[in-house]
Amino acid sequence: MLEGKVAMITGASQGLGRALAHAYAEEGAKLVINARREESIRPVAGEIEKKGAEVLALAADVSVSEDVRRLVDAAVERFGRIDVLVNNAGVLGPRVEILEYPEDEWRKVIDANLTGLYLVSKAAIPHMPEGGSIINVVSGVSVEGRAEWGAYSVSKFGVEGLSQILAAELKERGIRSNAVDPGGMRTDMRAAAYPEEDPTTRITPEENTSVFLYLASDESEGVTGKRFKAQEFQKA
Ligand SMILES: NC(=O)c1ccc[n+]([C@@H]2O[C@H](COP(=O)([O-])OP(=O)(O)OC[C@H]3O[C@@H](n4cnc5c(N)ncnc54)[C@H](OP(=O)(O)O)[C@@H]3O)[C@@H](O)[C@H]2O)c1
Repeated sequence: MLEGKVAMITGASQGLGRALAHAYAEEGAKLVINARREESIRPVAGEIEKKGAEVLALAADVSVSEDVRRLVDAAVERFGRIDVLVNNAGVLGPRVEILEYPEDEWRKVIDANLTGLYLVSKAAIPHMPEGGSIINVVSGVSVEGRAEWGAYSVSKFGVEGLSQILAAELKERGIRSNAVDPGGMRTDMRAAAYPEEDPTTRITPEENTSVFLYLASDESEGVTGKRFKAQEFQKA
């Protein structure tokens, strides 16, 4: 399904990003993956290589422009282009009301979840050919403001807008941009957001990859500016 494609997935050391790296590798893609720390991304690269896929793994913080430049330059040097960009990296931040929300945490969450997406997209898009696909990971709280979701929710509202802006700006170049709400999954982020929940009541990220495969593949050519709910996605 993805033979010959080069896919960059941000925040792939665990959770959804790691599951997507595996799923894309199984479909024949070449991978570029990152996380903030070398020791967390390196083992995932090892797992992917064992599957026989080519992978470039780097420690890079998406909210730091020098790191993003280094990541994209290395990807282009190794593979020549980026066909698929999954803007997945994200942090939850504190689950408190706005009146209690610390300013430094606010800035960190907006930087990682929203500014990071702008930085990675801006650096990667010049290396995306016609037929390229950008997939932006959003959330249930990116279209509905709920108490105690603070900067996380606000950052994801911003990602919804950025995803639509990119779709409009890149349509003529044949590059698509879509948003995906993965829904609740059994990951560390979900456990931090809902400490009282039994994690086994949620699907694993490995079970939640279909829409991400569809959007990365040529099957979704021409589909842009849309929003998908991963757990309600049915292949036509
Ligand atoms: N889990 C859910 O139920 C759920 C629901 C809706 C939306 N989402 C969204 O789905 C995406 C993945 O979530 P998840 O549950 O898989 O989260 P997760 O398990 O916490 O994983 C987040 C990943 O992002 C990386 N990361 C965080 N900040 C980064 C930064 N500044 N630069 C580079 N990498 C960074 C982390 O690696 P390091 O910490 O090693 O850097 C990790 O690999 C996120 O965008 C999240 O908002 C999740």
